[in-house]
Amino acid sequence: MYSYIKTPEEINKIRIASNLASNVLKMIKPYIKSGISTNLIDKICYKYITIYQKAYPACLGYNGYPKSICISVNEVVCHGIPNNETILKNGDIVNIDVTVLKNGFYGDTSKMFFVGNISTIGKNLCLIAQESLYLAIKIIRPFLKLNYIGKIIENFVNKKNFSIVKEYCGHGIGKKFHEPPQVLHFYDKNNNIILYPGMIFTIEPMINSGKRNVIVMKDKWTVKTKDNSLSAQYEHTILVTKNGCEILTFRENENINKIINHN
Ligand code: MF3
Ligand code: CO
Ligand code: CO
Repeated sequence: MYSYIKTPEEINKIRIASNLASNVLKMIKPYIKSGISTNLIDKICYKYITIYQKAYPACLGYNGYPKSICISVNEVVCHGIPNNETILKNGDIVNIDVTVLKNGFYGDTSKMFFVGNISTIGKNLCLIAQESLYLAIKIIRPFLKLNYIGKIIENFVNKKNFSIVKEYCGHGIGKKFHEPPQVLHFYDKNNNIILYPGMIFTIEPMINSGKRNVIVMKDKWTVKTKDNSLSAQYEHTILVTKNGCEILTFRENENINKIINHN
């Protein structure tokens, strides 16, 4: 548990990588329009990260993953591989998940984008996914049990009659892309890990409009809802501070504070 705690030097580097990752989401926003292929979005991000940020798109080559970012459209839950055949169209809800590696440290974030006019259910689903992440972030403070994060997400999403994907979870992050602890998005009564200042992990709930079940496509990456219902995800990299937390992948104009202080 103690080993999850980062040094101030490590925290600064993860803060820098996280900020770069959130800047990619800001940069790409005007390109998310009807008619663009997900492959072109990937190429733009690749160039921005490598040439402008002088960093590395961490997904590229990760366990054989072939592209720089993940783009998951509508019923795709996560790990959608950018390609030339997927052309964004009016009504699509699109998750873009970016992980940047800079100076040996990682930052990881994702958000939903809307193409044109989207359905009420799609809009609602995205709002609930984001709100579930925000509710979890707002309770984070030292000495809280890690499993409260999953508890608050599960309670909220169930109340809204959406479902939570159980196969994928948040994760510690730092010198490695994915490291312990695992951060489940549902309540696990047997997890007794306690939060301490200096811990850094992601929270990244995947919420479906239909049933929670998912299937992995033949490409071994693309995850879809089994019932073809819509899915939405938001992800932030979070630092536990002395009296609350800091959203390391915070973007301006978010409906939450970057730094949350209790007491
Ligand atoms: N960024 C994803 C996460 O949130 C992981 C993507 S791994 C990839 O943890 F290989 F699919 F890119
Ligand atoms: Co992640
Ligand atoms: Co991610």
